[in-house]
Amino acid sequence: MKKTWKIRSIEFENNLVLAPMAGYTDAPFRKICRKFGAGLVVTELITSLGMCFKNEKTMSMLKFYPEEHPVSLQIFGSRPDKMAEAARAGQDCGYDIIDINMGCPAPKIARSGSGGELLSDITKLPELFRAVVNAVDIPVTVKTRVGYRHNVPLASIVAKMAEDEGIAAIAIHGASVKQNSKGSRDWDEIAKTKQTVSIPVCANGGVKKPSDALEILSYTNADAVMIGRACLGKPWFFKDILDIYNGEDPQIVDLRKQSSKIIFDTLFEHIQLEIEYKGENRAIREMRRPIHDYVRGLPKSGNIRDKINKTKNKDELFRILRDYQSTFFQV
Ligand SMILES: Cc1cc2nc3c(=O)[nH]c(=O)nc-3n(C[C@H](O)[C@H](O)[C@H](O)COP(=O)(O)O)c2cc1C
Repeated sequence: MKKTWKIRSIEFENNLVLAPMAGYTDAPFRKICRKFGAGLVVTELITSLGMCFKNEKTMSMLKFYPEEHPVSLQIFGSRPDKMAEAARAGQDCGYDIIDINMGCPAPKIARSGSGGELLSDITKLPELFRAVVNAVDIPVTVKTRVGYRHNVPLASIVAKMAEDEGIAAIAIHGASVKQNSKGSRDWDEIAKTKQTVSIPVCANGGVKKPSDALEILSYTNADAVMIGRACLGKPWFFKDILDIYNGEDPQIVDLRKQSSKIIFDTLFEHIQLEIEYKGENRAIREMRRPIHDYVRGLPKSGNIRDKINKTKNKDELFRILRDYQSTFFQV
């Protein structure tokens, strides 16, 4: 199985890609995923209008660590001129790739005709693709879905349009926009897209265990696989897949059998990076969900849920987690 791939002249160490996930794939998490072997990391979706108006919060989301390279900036919007302006600004920030969000089903994104809603009228897509591609020198990619409505595949048609307008690669989530994240995954349409275009295709959707990544790659013949939810609270998921590539057993962290060290070391590093990145108050508030992801399934982890949700203080948060770790695990 091919493990390296390229987007234009950018060669990746491997074909494992961290999916963009709003509220999760900020710079600290991306840095950690790169450390555990993700070959390419993508920001969460960033508003093109916010970038054009230099909105303070939007601008703060654009920071990334040098260790993240190669790193892709995902932008969303429906206006070709504003998407082009945002792409240029992203290039000026030092991003390696600009990615167009064409899959998000969230109502607040759909209302402006952005994200997955762009698939509702594909005749408008060439103008959007052209505007963004012409605005930058770095590669422009698209992340989309197999279609807009369930059982009405579009990805291969959209991918051909994208290729014709100079888009450098396409990632395809195997669920339709209207399906959101529920229901079956249409890996056949991803496979068909791979046969239709010459640009690299990245398959996404439904990888739950490390071996699923190999399965989707072999079923679709895609160049790369993009992983989302499976690595939330488990950024070492990438290392587990790489272990399989290397012919070893994945070191899946099963706490009934193994030490908790990797979990808590990674969690403490993650919290510390978030505090440096966002400041203590915001970091502790926004880390609540990710912390629950790290400890989900661990013995009696429900007992610390309320305490984590209530604390606003870094020292207290670390104390809660250390007490929990020393009570239930050998440290
Ligand atoms: C919490 C969450 C946030 C997401 N945010 C984005 C986003 O910002 N941009 C995007 O293109 N997709 C987003 N997605 C979709 C994922 O990138 C991915 O396509 C989807 O989760 C399917 O992959 P998976 O089955 O590996 O999780 C998000 C998904 C989740 C669960």
